[in-house]
Amino acid sequence: MSRRPIIAGNWKMNKDINEAAALINELKPLVEGAEAEVVFCPPYVDLVEAVKLTEGTNIGIGAQNMHYETSGAFTGEVAGEMLTAIGVKYVVIGHSERREYYNETDEAVNKKAIKALELGLTPIVCCGETLEEREGGKAEAKVVGQIKEGCKNIDDIAQVVIAYEPIWAIGTGKTASKEEADEACGWVRKTIEEMYGKDAAEAVRVQYGGSVKPANVAELMAMPNIDGALVGGASLTADFAKIVKF
Ligand code: G3H
Repeated sequence: MSRRPIIAGNWKMNKDINEAAALINELKPLVEGAEAEVVFCPPYVDLVEAVKLTEGTNIGIGAQNMHYETSGAFTGEVAGEMLTAIGVKYVVIGHSERREYYNETDEAVNKKAIKALELGLTPIVCCGETLEEREGGKAEAKVVGQIKEGCKNIDDIAQVVIAYEPIWAIGTGKTASKEEADEACGWVRKTIEEMYGKDAAEAVRVQYGGSVKPANVAELMAMPNIDGALVGGASLTADFAKIVKF
């Protein structure tokens, strides 16, 4: 089965509304006609403008997080329903920075992924090990555990995008080798097969994330288990188009 590549830019806490508009307007013509599905994930406050500016283009807009409840006393949170109401189509769930700084658990990741799917949002569920876990030979167990818990009880797993991001490669300039990245994306796929069967495992798209840049994207994308990239730093300039059109 051939899986359509998906390249997503996670802007993290970067770009105010003016900067976001400028980058989107710069990138729009550059990513036009890309073979890959293209996603920009700006901060919440930029989302309405980002959706407006990308209407009728090949760019889909994603949020970087959501709450699994519909409404209520959750100060500072945003519901999935609020995202769909403004035309957001994707949502990053369980990024390692959310897990580390905001205590996001596999249980919360699972609730968010299930809710996102119910709402028709495409969840980009993140997983990945620390350097200590990798050096201690525990990377596979960590990734498999995160997928087993974070992706359980999902009706249509083929609609989920999973991003394998080794924490030691995020924002460090140190990319996993293509073999390391492919092996870990393979752990993800094997786990999905055990949970949901072969067809599901063949259909689910697995991204690699961690210091992806124009110079290394092609070799990563050539690997059999890698179907895309979740890009941080290199998604913040017009050079992102070179990654999208790898
Ligand atoms: O969500 C994106 C990842 O955390 C990768 O970030 O490309 O800056 O290493 P990076």
